Amino acid sequence: MERIKATAEFLRKKTAFTPDAGIILGSGLGGLVKSIDVKYSFDYSEIPNFPVSTVEGHDGRLIFGFLDGKKVVAMQGRFHYYEGYTMLQVVFPIRVMKMLGITHLFLSNAAGGLNSSFKVGDLMIIKDHINMFPDNPLKGKNIEELGTRFPEMGEAYSRDLIEKAKNIAEQNGIKYHTGVYVGSSGPTLETPAEYRMFHILGADSTGMSTVPEVIAARHMGLTCFGISVITNLAVFDEGEVGTSHDEVQNAAGEAEPKMTLIFRELIKTL
Ligand code: HPA
Repeated sequence: MERIKATAEFLRKKTAFTPDAGIILGSGLGGLVKSIDVKYSFDYSEIPNFPVSTVEGHDGRLIFGFLDGKKVVAMQGRFHYYEGYTMLQVVFPIRVMKMLGITHLFLSNAAGGLNSSFKVGDLMIIKDHINMFPDNPLKGKNIEELGTRFPEMGEAYSRDLIEKAKNIAEQNGIKYHTGVYVGSSGPTLETPAEYRMFHILGADSTGMSTVPEVIAARHMGLTCFGISVITNLAVFDEGEVGTSHDEVQNAAGEAEPKMTLIFRELIKTL
């Protein structure tokens, strides 16, 4: 808690900015930042107590500014469990953003599609998630100042924002799905048997992020909204060829403008 407060204090002193919404941009999905009228920007390495992002395709910057007149703080690049961070490190920035004043958290991720109706480049509005990480950011002594011991997860993703997002997509002719995201540690992609298992369990997309962040956010009472950009399709048969990291990045880049539009229009409604 001391570290969270110290980091929030550092950023408050440097920026005197009270953001309303936090935004986390996934692999190859950082384009939204171009629409932000940037007031302050920090390399993660400049921020006390922040872990440093290591994976390719993640820029590692915390950006404060106005998005269509709304005050936002955006993480360009996130901290993944598979990079070796602890769950506490993964969710540290979310806790700092909450201390800075955000009430809403918007998350995007690149994900594999498990639903047979999905195509590469499609968007999936996340309506729920399954935690398949071998860990939970709330494990250990509860920080009462942040939230309750046993947080409710019945509406992890805001139904109101999901309805608004669907309307925005429809009005703008953007094809979308809604579905369940399953998060697991990575860094390996799934074997065909694992993809099949996730599908049978009721998931529509799979990736290596978002779940810990939403758990920490809901613990603190933040309203969450998330989109998966489908960058590859699950390989269900042993004979099929899998996906390369390059393909994931390319597909993310192509779908990114549609996702950005939905985030922008949604944030305007706050
Ligand atoms: N599995 C896990 N994470 C991912 C995938 C996937 O197929 N695609 C993009 N991130």
